[in-house]
Parts: sequence; structure tokens; C-alpha cells
Amino acid sequence: MSAHGGELAGERAPEVAARLRLHGQPVAGAGDRRLDAEPARETVFEIRDVAVHYGSSQALGWTTLDIHRHEVTAVIGPSGCGKSTFLRSLNRMNDTIPNFRLEGEVLYRGHDLYAPATNRVEVRRRIGMVFQKPNPFPKSIYDNVAWAPRNLGMRAGLDERVERALRHAALWDEVKDRLKQSALGLSGGQQQRLCIARAIAIEPDVLLLDEPASALDPIATASIEELMHTLKHRYTLVIVTHNMQQAARVADRTAFFALDLSGSQRVGTLIEYAPTRTLFTNPSDPRTRDYITGQFG
Ligand SMILES: Nc1ncnc2c1ncn2[C@@H]1O[C@H](COP(=O)(O)OP(=O)(O)OP(=O)(O)O)[C@@H](O)[C@H]1O
Ligand SMILES: [Mg+2]
Repeated sequence: MSAHGGELAGERAPEVAARLRLHGQPVAGAGDRRLDAEPARETVFEIRDVAVHYGSSQALGWTTLDIHRHEVTAVIGPSGCGKSTFLRSLNRMNDTIPNFRLEGEVLYRGHDLYAPATNRVEVRRRIGMVFQKPNPFPKSIYDNVAWAPRNLGMRAGLDERVERALRHAALWDEVKDRLKQSALGLSGGQQQRLCIARAIAIEPDVLLLDEPASALDPIATASIEELMHTLKHRYTLVIVTHNMQQAARVADRTAFFALDLSGSQRVGTLIEYAPTRTLFTNPSDPRTRDYITGQFG
């Protein structure tokens, strides 16, 4: 329990939470709006009975799981099972999609991410995202990394901040002599590491990565995987991947989603969530076993 009791945005005692739960409706009432005004917890996200709809179709079934600090959590499963939807729910990236509706609760360090008092800019600052296709801005390498700090008014020590982000993204040595050159001149793998540097330049708490290596060759993929092993000591990482070997190599825990075809709709459903080794060597659900042995999906 937080030392701040129930005064933080979205934080409530369980019984109050149960009473206030309004499916899909934000819950009113909050005091302090800062997301960092609380001591670190080992559990970064508590996802409770979350379901996502786009209009009349349900993309994600009722999902409950915890995401742990300084771990890599992988999300795997066949195409269309809601992996990206799930990931985007963790930093409110779905909010801009018309007809998006989320039920249930996503608690980030005890704060209800979807409470009206939760500041979305603050959410994005603390929970960064890297996409499948490297998407550097058509600016210099330096300006890409400096972009978010400048926008947030973090101008003091900007050169050091840019260097630190590039070092932590394992790119510094390759670009230190051409910081003023266009980012578009970098290779795909370098561009993806630049996007990681851009995301970590404002020192977020969590990095969400949606298939960050699927557009890269095996060498660039290996460098992204290696990077994840180091980044997790500093951040909490959640990665969507189609590559099961990659999940096995980088993730501490793995969530397997699949499409539940039993009803009238095809709904993405969490089938199994376990330490990665367990999930790949001793899965408890036959659907997981079929998927990881290639007989499914
Ligand atoms: N912006 C959107 N508007 C409407 N429906 C969407 C939207 N994005 C995703 N969906 C639907 O939600 C379901 C889950 O999609 P999602 O992209 O989350 O799956 P995924 O597991 O990431 O798939 P992939 O492996 O192909 O990336 C799909 O049926 C998809 O058509
Ligand atoms: Mg996806």
C-alpha cells in the first residue's frame, strides 16, 4: 500500500475500486495528478479485467495480468489476436482511434491510467513507445534525440542528454561524428536504435515495443535483442513479437494470446502468462503447446 493512501490520481482501496468500477466509464475523483509521486513498486502495471472494443467488435477479451519492474515481458500470438491493441492500451495510444472503448482497469504504479485526472502527456512521458517500422523524423540524428526533451522544456544539459540516450541505445560510437547529418541516412537497424534513443531521451519508466525488430535483418535484430538485455536494468520493457525464439531469448515472462473462436466474434484472449522458460518448456494450456510447436496460428 502506498504511503500516500488514496489521494493519488486513480488510486483507491480495492473495495472502493469495486464499488466505483463503471465499465468503460472514467471514474471521477482524484487529488494529486502526478504519476511519479509514489515509491517504486515491483509491479508496474496491474491489468484487471480489461476488454477492448473497436465499435461493435471486441478486439480483446477479459484480460488480467501484472507486469513487473525491470523485466522484459513478451506478448506473442497469431496475427489479429490483439497484441498491438493490448500494448497500446498501456500508454493510451488507442485513445485516438475512433470507436475505441476500454473496459476494466489498467493500473500503472497504482494509478488508474484511464481516470479523468490522469494527465495523458505525463502518461506518454513515462511510458514510451517504439514501433515496428523505424520512424525517425526527417531531421538530424541529434535533433531526433533532442526532440522530446526540447518539447518538454528539458533544455539544460541537452548535449549530455543526447549523448547518454545514444550510448544507452548502443548507437553512440556509430554516430558520434555525424550527429548533424540526417537520420534518414542511417541503416534500418541504426534507425531503430535511434528511435529507441529518441524514446529514452526523456528517461521514461517503461518502453513498449511493437515488433521492433521484424523489419530488420538478423544482425540488426541481434543488436536490438542485446540492447533489450541492457535496457531492462534501467527500464521496464514490454515487447510484442511474432518471433518465438526472440521471446525465448529476451523475455523474463511471456503472455500468449490467441483468437477465441467459440462465440460469434473472434476475440483476442489471453491464454497463458508465465515465466518464459515455463511457457516454452512446460505450457499448461494445450493451445499454447500447439502454438509453440507450430501446429496452430
Ligand atoms: N484502429 C482499429 N480500428 C478498428 N479495428 C482495429 C483497429 N486496430 C485493430 N483492430 C482490430 O482489432 C483486432 C486486433 O488487432 P491488433 O492489431 O491488436 O492485432 P495484432 O495481434 O497486433 O495483429 P498483428 O500480429 O497482425 O500485428 C483485429 O481484429 C483488428 O482488425
Ligand atoms: Mg500488431
